[in-house]
Amino acid sequence: MARLLSSEPQKEDDSLVSLRPSKLDDYIGQEKIKSRLEVAIKASSMRGEVLDHILLAGPAGLGKTTLAMIIANEVGGNLRMTSGPVIERQGDLAAILTSLNSKDVLFIDEIHRLPHPVEEVLYSAMEDFQIDVIVGKGPGARSVRLSVSPFTLVGATTRSGLLTAPLRNRFGMIFEMDFYTVEELARIGKRTAQLLGVKIDDKSAIEIAKRARGTPRVMNRFVKRIRDFATVKGKDVLDKEIIEEAFVSMQIDKNGLDEMDIKILSKIAHDYKGGPVGLNALAASVGIEAETINEVYEPFLLQGGFIARTSRGRVLTQKGYSVLGESLI
Ligand code: ADE
Repeated sequence: MARLLSSEPQKEDDSLVSLRPSKLDDYIGQEKIKSRLEVAIKASSMRGEVLDHILLAGPAGLGKTTLAMIIANEVGGNLRMTSGPVIERQGDLAAILTSLNSKDVLFIDEIHRLPHPVEEVLYSAMEDFQIDVIVGKGPGARSVRLSVSPFTLVGATTRSGLLTAPLRNRFGMIFEMDFYTVEELARIGKRTAQLLGVKIDDKSAIEIAKRARGTPRVMNRFVKRIRDFATVKGKDVLDKEIIEEAFVSMQIDKNGLDEMDIKILSKIAHDYKGGPVGLNALAASVGIEAETINEVYEPFLLQGGFIARTSRGRVLTQKGYSVLGESLI
């Protein structure tokens, strides 16, 4: 198993970490990415080379961190985790890079948020496994070239459009991750239930998966919360009755929409007559950060067809209206 060298705060509770698959074979979904990765890992290993750098792009919760852990495991390196906003100075990155061993995987989450001077250090590290650092200050300052052990950079971003061209071009593989199908999420949920020691049949797993917003992190969170309801009832089966009770209590509707999603849809319908409305205006009327709407709520509202994006802003769709119990006519 890949050793985790640095553990910054994770986005989910620690108990979820053990639910993550550690081998590519156990990873469900993202089939195209998996098969391309499999070939790349096998080929680099046969040639005795280090695996090329990989960019993982896509909405939060789709398994970018899990894939990075699997990659480290499959190439037999350690995983070093950090994130763009945490690396403030060139020296911070230089310290991380020079401490890597051959075949290690450096995972940089939110890589689009790396400060520019830091990003520049990454260019030569990625390309030549060398970095230039400035030693000293003032007139005596000089540049020293240091070598870095051959490593694989796995960058993750929710906003691939914000990556600069020089950084993007230095990745050997760019994988755009898709939302998961209901069937894939059901399989993930069944696997999680089994690891947690509770039973669930296919039909129930599908019922949960339909509300999981195409996202394994949401699916696993639901399975854990529904298990809580089962535990309290003294049951070890996540059946229809318990699932329904849990969703009513969590205020999640049959499409997986929560109170905030409904609030967003309803603001567009009532305050903006169905749109178009700009992101900042919408965020102000809903009362949350524009970035939260953009990264947390909007990807699924768009993908599920509840809203659409036009050049003049977001508009509510027929499906969005029907969720609100209204009609376009
Ligand atoms: N847990 C979270 N994401 C997963 C995935 N894609 N496959 C299997 N288990 C998972």
